[in-house]
Amino acid sequence: MIRLIRRLWHWFTRPSVLFGQGVLLLIGGIGGIIFWGGFHTAMEATNTLEFCISYHEMRDTVYQEYKTTVHYKNASGVRAVCSDCHVPHEWGPKVVRKIKASKEIWGKLTGTINTPEKFEAKRAELASHVWEAMEATDSRECRNCHSFEAMDFEKQGRRSRRKMEVVALEGHAPDGSSTCIDCHKGIAHKLPEKNE
Ligand code: HEC
Ligand code: HEC
Ligand code: HEC
Repeated sequence: MIRLIRRLWHWFTRPSVLFGQGVLLLIGGIGGIIFWGGFHTAMEATNTLEFCISYHEMRDTVYQEYKTTVHYKNASGVRAVCSDCHVPHEWGPKVVRKIKASKEIWGKLTGTINTPEKFEAKRAELASHVWEAMEATDSRECRNCHSFEAMDFEKQGRRSRRKMEVVALEGHAPDGSSTCIDCHKGIAHKLPEKNE
């Protein structure tokens, strides 16, 4: 038994085995880096405006609507692109969101949402998913750019100040609205028809 262990130990610490393990580790390491880099590049690429609108149901509908809004063009020249509002920054939620998005894209490619008409028919459902997600995260993506702390209420329109200063101070409006999306639906796209 002792001899067996000794032989095993001897075999295991042979220079050639150590060398082999080193090479394996190295290959594994390089492979890991290449995979990680590629994965990251792919994730970044799918975050661009061009990628989002490479699907024409997006290009002909939500994109046209978004282009007329202040998030596309404004005095300060700061643009919010699709992924700023729709893809979380954190890794966990980001990956989950990507998987959900590919499910939607898959749905389109396989024919469920392959025309603007079908897109319109699905819009209410898609919008409600987005609202739910934003409510669940307390409008996290909006808050990556906006915050009540950074708002100069003096400089805002009267209506804005009246509605938002109380939320900033007390955490919610008299009607219970507390997060951006509660009050700001339809800021980037046409709202779905009510009875669809
Ligand atoms: C990438 C940064 C960014 C993100 C993310 C973002 N915004 Fe904005 N938002 C801006 C900028 C920039 C403006 C224009 C500011 C200006 O020049 O007045 C703006 C303007 C607005 C306005 C004023 C609209 C108007 O007509 O004047 C509202 C309301 C608003 N954002 C709400 C939201 C909400 C709600 C979300 C989340 C769903 C969100 N924003 C996400 C950057 C962002
Ligand atoms: C209780 C409802 C409510 C909540 C919650 C709320 N807003 Fe507003 N906000 C308003 C109203 C109402 C206006 C005025 C819009 C109008 O008159 O069309 C406004 C205006 C704005 C404006 C334009 C300000 C100006 O006058 O220049 C921005 C930007 C904005 N909201 C961003 C946000 C963001 C970001 C959040 C979340 C952190 C948020 N709001 C939460 C109701 C709300
Ligand atoms: C400023 C934040 C913001 C930006 C930028 C933005 N969206 Fe949205 N998006 C929303 C919100 C909020 C909703 C939920 C529905 C609503 O309130 O209009 C939504 C809903 C959607 C929906 C569901 C269908 C619908 O109309 O409700 C799709 C698809 C979509 N967005 C795609 C895009 C694409 C593609 C882009 C870029 C061309 C984009 N969005 C840019 C905030 C944004």
